[in-house]
Amino acid sequence: MKGLILAAGHGTRLRPLTYTRPKPVIRVAGKPIIAYAVENLLEAGIHEIGIVVSPKTEAPVKAALNGEDRAHFSFIRQDDPQGLAHAVKVAREWLGDDPFVMYLGDNLFEKGILEPVRQFQKTRPAAAIALVEVEDPRQFGVAVVEGGRIVRLVEKPKDPPSKLAVAGVYVFGPEIHEVIAELRPSARGEYEITDAIQGLLDGGQTVLGISVQGWWKDTGRPNDLLEANRLLLAGLESGVMGEVTGSEIGNGVRVEAGATVRNARVLGPALIAAGAVVEDAYVGPYTSVGPGAVVRDAEVEDSILEDEALVEGVRLHGSILGIGAKAIRHTARPQTPKLILGDLSTVELP
Ligand code: TTP
Repeated sequence: MKGLILAAGHGTRLRPLTYTRPKPVIRVAGKPIIAYAVENLLEAGIHEIGIVVSPKTEAPVKAALNGEDRAHFSFIRQDDPQGLAHAVKVAREWLGDDPFVMYLGDNLFEKGILEPVRQFQKTRPAAAIALVEVEDPRQFGVAVVEGGRIVRLVEKPKDPPSKLAVAGVYVFGPEIHEVIAELRPSARGEYEITDAIQGLLDGGQTVLGISVQGWWKDTGRPNDLLEANRLLLAGLESGVMGEVTGSEIGNGVRVEAGATVRNARVLGPALIAAGAVVEDAYVGPYTSVGPGAVVRDAEVEDSILEDEALVEGVRLHGSILGIGAKAIRHTARPQTPKLILGDLSTVELP
């Protein structure tokens, strides 16, 4: 079985972060989102992984996967991303007639994807779709399941027929290619994977609905990234490997080797990544301080600071700073702005 990770989207809902880098390479709890997808595929025994990229996303995605030598990666170009089914279409030749797991590169699963893969291998249906029970499924594809088989799919229903949302992992046999070859674009102009699955159902093929345990996060918007960061940090292995002096380190904090914490208070769950410096500062729960980032004379809670970001003289909560972004304030009066800063941006507060 092969893996196909989709990483060619526009990521419009996450601008400005995605002006410079695609969603799957944004770091959550210290690791690019796509690295979790690779981890889950490897855990399911899948080492042959194709990554669908656009001309814009190819280089950053390659960089994010650099050094991962447990998988063999092939990069497949989708020059003009026209929908999830279109991504499968451009990968048709690479996929051959092998069954494959299609994995949305911006999705995160707490407990991996073993179950859909196992169930697919056991009964060899045309498809096995990961489903997650959610409180309010109106913004998702929703499945109606009878006896373990999906009988109907409804996209973003006003009145959901079940609480089972279609999550971002699909296991397909080669049957899907015949349906996709005949597919027409939807009203929004995209080749929809839900239409392709509906095509399988209309052709009388078996599509299993497999409930996935644990949380699932589709990281479309800034708040989703922050929530994913909270969920992943809560499960992170704590430990102090870096250099800590004159500081209070609470439970659930991971200070990686090469990180420096000086005269600071760090409360978990939190991550201080390699090369980061936290100095005369407070880092509160649910904060990821990325590699080489600096928090100085500042307070940060519930936030993501990516590589080389700088926070100085300010108090932040619920913020995301892209690579090299700076939030700086030159006086000492406390304020709590909410910032979503793209890579290399600078905010200087009065
Ligand atoms: P989406 O979140 O549906 O789309 P997007 O990334 O373009 O984001 P937005 O809606 O905010 O503009 O995509 C899910 C994943 O699939 C994401 O990692 C990008 C990828 N993708 C492709 O690889 N090719 C495509 O044609 C599309 C639509 C998405």
